[in-house]
Amino acid sequence: MKFEFLNPTRIVFGAGSLSRLGEFASRYGKRALVVTGGGSIKRNGTFDRAIKSLKDAGVSVYECAGVEPNPRITSVRRGAETARQNGCDMVIAVGGGSVMDASKVMAAAALYDGDPWNMILHGQEKVHVPTEALPITTVPTLAATGSETNCGAVISNEETQEKSFMMTECLYPKVALLDPELTMSVPKDQTAYGVCDLITHVTEGYFNGTGNTPIQDRFAEGVILTAMEYGPKAIADGRDLDARTQVQWAASVALIGWVQSGAGSMGSPVHMIEHTVSAYHDITHATGLSIINPSWMRFAAKTNTSKFVQFAERIFGLPAKGPEDMECALSGIDRFEEFLKSIGCLTRFSELGIDGKLIGTYAKETLRIMHDDKGMLQARTPMSEADIVEVLKAAL
Ligand SMILES: [Fe+2]
Repeated sequence: MKFEFLNPTRIVFGAGSLSRLGEFASRYGKRALVVTGGGSIKRNGTFDRAIKSLKDAGVSVYECAGVEPNPRITSVRRGAETARQNGCDMVIAVGGGSVMDASKVMAAAALYDGDPWNMILHGQEKVHVPTEALPITTVPTLAATGSETNCGAVISNEETQEKSFMMTECLYPKVALLDPELTMSVPKDQTAYGVCDLITHVTEGYFNGTGNTPIQDRFAEGVILTAMEYGPKAIADGRDLDARTQVQWAASVALIGWVQSGAGSMGSPVHMIEHTVSAYHDITHATGLSIINPSWMRFAAKTNTSKFVQFAERIFGLPAKGPEDMECALSGIDRFEEFLKSIGCLTRFSELGIDGKLIGTYAKETLRIMHDDKGMLQARTPMSEADIVEVLKAAL
């Protein structure tokens, strides 16, 4: 194993942490661009509490509201412009993954004269990789993406029907205030898809790694088992603070980086394929994952059987006849799909009214945005266009 690990984000975890927002933000500046989404935080009081904490600490607030799910580059441009016009010296995200992702890119875009779309990897000749950004604070109101404690961001361009990502060191938030109380009003379906998203973040690394990484495997299995134990409790009773707490921590741990450190993950094929599909249909990220992941698992199990057997044994307690017991591997995947269904996630495109007409286009687009030097999608078993089509067809 060879790896480097860095995560400089200060994590402030626990119910009630929101009241400390001003205390932390005032360490970084006096004029905050506060980025928000569709308005639920205004209805439930979170926004007012955040603003009060900032004002009490002497921080002025300039708002960029209305960041959409699948955040768009137009919102990033608008937020960066608001930050520049008002001389903002920091960015604070109060919302879900979309708000946090958009905020991070705004923080870099505010210090960059070019078009921020140049920073998002989308098959262009020359990607602009920023080295500086305004200090970022994240206050997640949904346990799902793990964006609060990492340096990645996913952005859509509706004009070109592209959705892709950037990932660079200057996007690490300075502070992540993780207050599980803020997630108690999240509806059942969004809670379920948050659980699906966080599990997919660890399955990508788990099934695409080099193997022989026992600590990383058990970290990943710990996150999956915790999400499967507490996720259904948080869905059954949104006011269950203990369940909300465990799910929120699982979502962050899934992508802080140490679960993946040393695992040698060769790609995130399920996310890459999902990004293309949701660029065409504007579906919720985790709905796409919930549909594509089990189908991809059945594909990947053909060449990485022993890892899927381990998954079946350790996650579902299924008996295996040996490390290459394909029947056991497939039973584990079936059980995983049943779990997703049991919490209310969709697992077939037809349930969304999406037919197979554009499958070839999704596969081509995925490979156009992301491919290795042989033109294959990066993964433990690199995927050709035909492989991606096979996975998507099986998910219809
Ligand atoms: Fe995700």
